[in-house]
Amino acid sequence: MERKVAGTRVLQVDSAEPDPAAISEAAALLRAGDVVAFPTETVYGLGASALDGQAVRRIYAAKGRPSDNPLIVHVADRAQLADVVASVPPAAERLMDLYWPGPLTLVMPKGPKVAPEVTCGLDTVGVRMPDHPVAQALIRAAGVPIAAPSANRSGRPSPTTAEHVVEDLADRIPLVLDAGETGVGVESTVLDVTVDPPVLLRPGGVTLEELEAAIGHVEVAPAVLGADPGERPRSPGMKYKHYAPRAPLILVDGPVIQMQNKIRDLAMEYLEEGKRVGILCSAESRGVYVAPVILEYGSRADLSGVASDLFAALRAFDRHGVDVILAEGVPETGMGLAIMNRLRRAAGGRVIRV
Ligand code: TXA
Ligand code: MG
Repeated sequence: MERKVAGTRVLQVDSAEPDPAAISEAAALLRAGDVVAFPTETVYGLGASALDGQAVRRIYAAKGRPSDNPLIVHVADRAQLADVVASVPPAAERLMDLYWPGPLTLVMPKGPKVAPEVTCGLDTVGVRMPDHPVAQALIRAAGVPIAAPSANRSGRPSPTTAEHVVEDLADRIPLVLDAGETGVGVESTVLDVTVDPPVLLRPGGVTLEELEAAIGHVEVAPAVLGADPGERPRSPGMKYKHYAPRAPLILVDGPVIQMQNKIRDLAMEYLEEGKRVGILCSAESRGVYVAPVILEYGSRADLSGVASDLFAALRAFDRHGVDVILAEGVPETGMGLAIMNRLRRAAGGRVIRV
């Protein structure tokens, strides 16, 4: 099945056994130096050959991405890694054995073939092997490692469906492979293994607890927990506005009852000011609030479920045309660390602790 939105073609493919004709068409575009949006197990990515600087520049242009925020390189197998990195630190070997393919990006010393545009001139490169049949088939058919950031306009929530990609990038890219909703819902974990102890630069689909069980102590970059990354962040992506719906989002964090009380008070104040209030909350809290738009991100007892629905919920507030969004925090264990990192960034500093 195929549809067209402005100049962008959307090709539907089976998520388990993608049609080889669709894959080879997409791979041909990549080999010819163009960009293609495709699903991974985390979010949709916007790919180009990592060995072709000109092609990689098209990614930055389509997304409106600042040119000092490096891209993740995707490989289909360990053999391809040799084209991407100069060496593999021991901690990386162990983590690849455990978590590849999967939502774990490892920052390693950059190999000479990778275009400097991918890493924005850094001598390190982030690499991962995605755990999605469509992504794997595409990388294999292209025959080159694929540089791919999330397929959203810079600053917007990452896309977990092809519709989200089209919302942001229609007419700016030639092709989207549509394999339905992605699974994990937040992006990969980014871990710098060029230093000892390794440093967590972005929490994601593989949890901090899982990393530490595999390789021992991991340092957490202060920006992950909400500190201002300052002028020279360790991961350039830390300093940019991110994941933002159109309306300002206020994150309220603390014990459940206090959080609910604070959100109720704030909702009342904004409603009295004549504002259209949106609330983003857990399934457990739904009955507690009165507001024109209340969206759930799932149960606090299932943080993986929350992660998988989070970005779609943030985008949904745009359609409801709210003036302000009040969001409930979750505990920062397991996937909660990645969820809270995204919510804090969507809030852009508007965080209230109760
Ligand atoms: O799940 C994912 O990782 C998705 C899918 C498409 O694979 N990709 C993704 O890419 O989220 P992007 O570009 O949205 O986020 C990449 C993050 C940025 O925060 C960037 O700063 C960081 O990884 N990064 C990339 N290369 C780096 C490097 N060499 N050193 C430090 N941070 C790096
Ligand atoms: Mg992104």
